[in-house]
Amino acid sequence: MEPTNIAAQPLIACRGLTKHFSLPRGIFGRPRIVRAVEDVTLQLERGETLGLVGESGCGKSTFGRTLLQLIPSTAGTIIVEGLDVTGLSDRQLRPWRRRIQIVFQDPYSSLDPRMTVQQLVAEPLIINKIGTNTRERSDIVKELLFQVGLRSDSLSRYPHEFSGGQRQRIGIARALSVRPEYIVCDEPLSALDVSIQAQIVNLLLDLRDKFGIGYLFISHDLDVVRFISQRIAVMYLGRIVEVGTRQAITEAPRHPYTKALLDAIPVPDPKRRKRVTLLGGDVPNPIEPPPGCAFHPRCWRMLQGKCNIEAPPLVLGDMGRQVACWNPIE
Ligand SMILES: Nc1ncnc2c1ncn2[C@@H]1O[C@H](COP(=O)(O)OP(=O)(O)OP(=O)(O)O)[C@@H](O)[C@H]1O
Ligand SMILES: [Mg+2]
Repeated sequence: MEPTNIAAQPLIACRGLTKHFSLPRGIFGRPRIVRAVEDVTLQLERGETLGLVGESGCGKSTFGRTLLQLIPSTAGTIIVEGLDVTGLSDRQLRPWRRRIQIVFQDPYSSLDPRMTVQQLVAEPLIINKIGTNTRERSDIVKELLFQVGLRSDSLSRYPHEFSGGQRQRIGIARALSVRPEYIVCDEPLSALDVSIQAQIVNLLLDLRDKFGIGYLFISHDLDVVRFISQRIAVMYLGRIVEVGTRQAITEAPRHPYTKALLDAIPVPDPKRRKRVTLLGGDVPNPIEPPPGCAFHPRCWRMLQGKCNIEAPPLVLGDMGRQVACWNPIE
């Protein structure tokens, strides 16, 4: 069925998206399954920056990759502008792949070291048949380098000749080259020095203003996420535990995990520094997630007999906020 009003649909919507990895059997011969992403229902809107935050190992990258079908999903559906794209072949996916790009965490390993900047940035143009000849593509590449703040004499140089921040700019130029509507940024800052991080954030914001690009901005750093995002989704052990506007999430978090992440952001004023942290321990192993709410072993609002037994559903509240907690902060 053809969608009737494309603009009224979210750009991407996933429903019940799940990704499990099967590992070789353990020493006792039991099959082991990593429950990396569990039953995620989320909408990604045009022109909007949605932050996806959670500690390391919570399933953020797996979610991003599964959403773009770079890896096959275990269950759930992915709808792009009203059309189900789940399980389509690479060829069938190509038209929407162009419109939704990804920028990876590690600018050191995501660029082919044998290719020059010119070749790296022109490659997606050739694949997507943008520009009729080499000369035209070369002009587009120069313009793209300008857009991302790289000098035009970078063209004949190789990735190893650049710093981490400059490489990330090359990665962004590659993503931009096909004029995407949306970019999934998977920890684009975490391999960079703090001073360089701000420059890349500003570049992303600048491109958002100029071209109306929407982002899924994946990061373990809620401080950066709250700076850049209009809406924030908080992930814990493969599940979304809270989603809401930036203001709702940062000023009035309802899930104890969201509150704990906010609490862990360092405060510049030493007099206000907190001595107690709300977040003790580590993220549990997704091969054997705790029963009930996966956060209950680390939660200070845990209700014995409830949270440790039954998983809370994600419940819709005011202003589109959703929270999955039996004892949310009021
Ligand atoms: N190919 C794979 N095979 C098996 N397990 C995997 C695979 N990829 C990821 N995992 C596991 O899935 C879980 C989620 O990993 P993922 O990389 O998505 O987390 P993340 O939130 O992106 O973490 P980080 O902040 O460290 O990037 C982890 O337990 C990880 O070990
Ligand atoms: Mg990751």
